[in-house]
Order: sequence, then C-alpha cells, then structure tokens
Amino acid sequence: MADSIRDLFFGAPTRELLEAVDPQRSFDDVVLPERTLRALNHALALVRKHDLIFRQWGLAERHTSGLGLAFHFAGAPGTGKTICAEALAYTLNRKLLVVRYAELESRWVGQTAKHVASVFRSAERQDAVLFFDEADAIAGRRFTSMQAAVDREANSVVNVLLHELETFPGIVIFATNLAANMDPAFERRIRTHILFEMPNVDERERIWRVQLHPHKTPLAEDVDFRALAEAYPRSGGDIKNAVLKAAQIATTEPGPDAGKQIHQRHFVQGMEEVIAGTSVMAQSLFEDGAALPPLAAFVEEMSEGQEALRAELALAAERLEALERRQAGSLQKLEVKLDERQTAVAEAAAAEVAAARARARGLWAAVIVSVCLAAAALAIALLRS
Ligand SMILES: Nc1ncnc2c1ncn2[C@@H]1O[C@H](COP(=O)(O)OP(=O)(O)OP(=O)(O)O)[C@@H](O)[C@H]1O
Ligand SMILES: [Mg+2]
Repeated sequence: MADSIRDLFFGAPTRELLEAVDPQRSFDDVVLPERTLRALNHALALVRKHDLIFRQWGLAERHTSGLGLAFHFAGAPGTGKTICAEALAYTLNRKLLVVRYAELESRWVGQTAKHVASVFRSAERQDAVLFFDEADAIAGRRFTSMQAAVDREANSVVNVLLHELETFPGIVIFATNLAANMDPAFERRIRTHILFEMPNVDERERIWRVQLHPHKTPLAEDVDFRALAEAYPRSGGDIKNAVLKAAQIATTEPGPDAGKQIHQRHFVQGMEEVIAGTSVMAQSLFEDGAALPPLAAFVEEMSEGQEALRAELALAAERLEALERRQAGSLQKLEVKLDERQTAVAEAAAAEVAAARARARGLWAAVIVSVCLAAAALAIALLRS
C-alpha cells in the first residue's frame, strides 16, 4: 500500500536493479597467477558438484537453506576480478546479472533492503550468476552503535543480504578492493575467498599478448612484450589501457592506414600515458582537493574545521581579554569613587561628632553657669535673712 502511494506521487522505479550481461569473455582471455587459477578451478568444481548434489540427486528438494554458492573475489584494481566473474558465467553457460547500486539504494526507509531481496529472487528465476561488483559499497561492516536512521538502514541491508545468502540456491559473486571493509559475518557465509594478486613478469608478458587480436592487430617487428613486462610492473587493467592508447597513437602516424603498425614506441608511450594518468588522478584526488576520496576528504574537512575552530577560539579569547580589561577599569573607577564617598562620609561624621561635642560642651558650660548662678542667688538670699 505504502509502495503504491509512493509510486503514485513519485512514480514507480523505472530503471532496472540488475544489468544482464551475456558473457563473451572466457578464461582463455584471462592470465592469472597459478594460485588464483587453482582457486578458481576449485570454485568451478564446486559449482559442478553442487549441480550434481542438489539438482540431479534432488537434495535441493529436501533442504531449504545452505544450497547456494557464494564466492568472494578480492584484490587490487585491474587484477581481473570483473572479467573472471564474466568468464565464470561463460563457462557455466549462464547469464551474469550485475547489481546496479545506484538503482538499488533507495531514499525510502526499508526500500533498499527490499531491493536486495528482489535481486536474489530475479537471479533465482533466471538461473543466472548474481554479481555484486565493488561490493564494499553494500557489504560493509555493520554499525555497533546505531544512532542515526541511516546507520540502522545500512545494518538492515547487510542483515537482509546475509539472510539471502543463507537461502539463495544459486551462485553469487562479490568483488571487492578492500576485503577488510566487508562485514565479518560474510566470512562464514561465503564459501570461497579468492585473492587476485598482481601479475608477475611472465603473466604480464602474456597479458600484453592476450589484449591483442591474434591475427588482425598489425604489430611491427620491433615489438618486445618481454621488455614491456619487465619495464612496467603494472596490473592487467593498466596493460589493457596501454594497449588501447598505443593503438590510437599508431593510427595518428602519417601515411595510409593500410601501412600502419603498432611499434614498441607506441606501447611505451601508451603505458607512460597510463602511468601519468594514474599520477594525475592521485594528484587531483589527494592534492588538488577537487575530488577527494572519502577518507582524505574527511581528514581535510577535519583539519579545515580545526583551523576554523582555532580562529574562533582566538577571537573569543581576545574578546574575553577585552572584557576583562574593561571590567578591571570599571572596578578601579568604582573603587576610587567608593573611597571618595567613604572619605566624605567619614569627614561628615567627624564634623558631626565635633559639632555634637561642641554642643555638649556648651550645654555643660550653661548648666555650670546656671548652677553657679543658682548657688550665688541662694547664698545671697541666706545672707540677707
Ligand atoms: N589477469 C588478467 N588477464 C587478462 N586481462 C586482464 C587481467 N586483469 C585485467 N585484465 C584486463 O583489464 C580489464 C580490467 O580488468 P577487471 O575489470 O577485470 O579488473 P578488476 O579487478 O575488476 O578491477 P576493479 O577492482 O577496478 O573493478 C579487463 O577487461 C581485461 O581486459
Ligand atoms: Mg571490477
């Protein structure tokens, strides 16, 4: 009901939560370190046995949880996680359903969790491989103190994801750059964690080759992939970009297209440009401040905040000092006035006392004179009689 009222006012969600990919690339297009390859083969064997146990032997009909297979591909950018998810789906002859986070995340409380549940239902219906690429975004650690509604929402999304993982009977792959950011509860529910390492020199040499068309790409005599692999310890993603750049540079050479070839210098220039691009990115990310990654932006914001706070504190301290100075001045003036007033009052009191004394003295003199006069009068009267 709430959903339909919301849809009435704001329109129903128009974009799909999942992007369906028909896998084109197989494991022939990927060059992997021996350990990664072994782990992937093990994952594939699990999938095949899984099919045998749960489908052919019918155990899926007897059990309702723990039927799915969840894999975690972890590794540095460009090490082949996404291409391997595609190759895995290709090998299993299944569609790859890539989760779109932008559509998944709803500003409506509780809606994101519903979206998460619905992508699992979709994958189950289509018997497709479900793929959470760059999954750090959604499978991050849960908050322990849930103060904000947004924290509670994030936690409920992770909880729903964990629950779906228990009950989903299909194959789901999570790819992350930062495995440490994943909520530890995923550890237990994900059957296989596969580490994608940086390629060594032999693997890099093969990756350079695998990026080209075996027959159509015109290569000059001077091309030496071994030398490129030795000179540039970069990821498969960087090698792919360098090859594309080299081809572009080669096409801009003068002369008819038919005679154009990719030379060693083009590959070198391509890779140098990729490296320069990465350092420009790093510079613009960390120095320029235009597009800071979350942590650096946060640190920058913090230090800016500290600066502002420091300036405000200094201003407040100045104001306080001025206030104290003013108070001290007024207090001094008050004291002087009080002193003056006290002196005046004391003087007035002293004058008053002196006057009183003088009055008393006068009174005594008058009394004495009167007594003397009375005595004299009495004496005269006595003498006369
Ligand atoms: N091991 C590899 N073998 C062959 N090609 C590779 C390999 N690794 C990367 N590539 C090439 O680089 C491209 C990018 O790799 P991919 O997207 O799979 O990396 P990723 O690990 O998912 O990176 P990210 O973490 O940035 O998403 C691939 O399409 C492929 O052409
Ligand atoms: Mg990727």
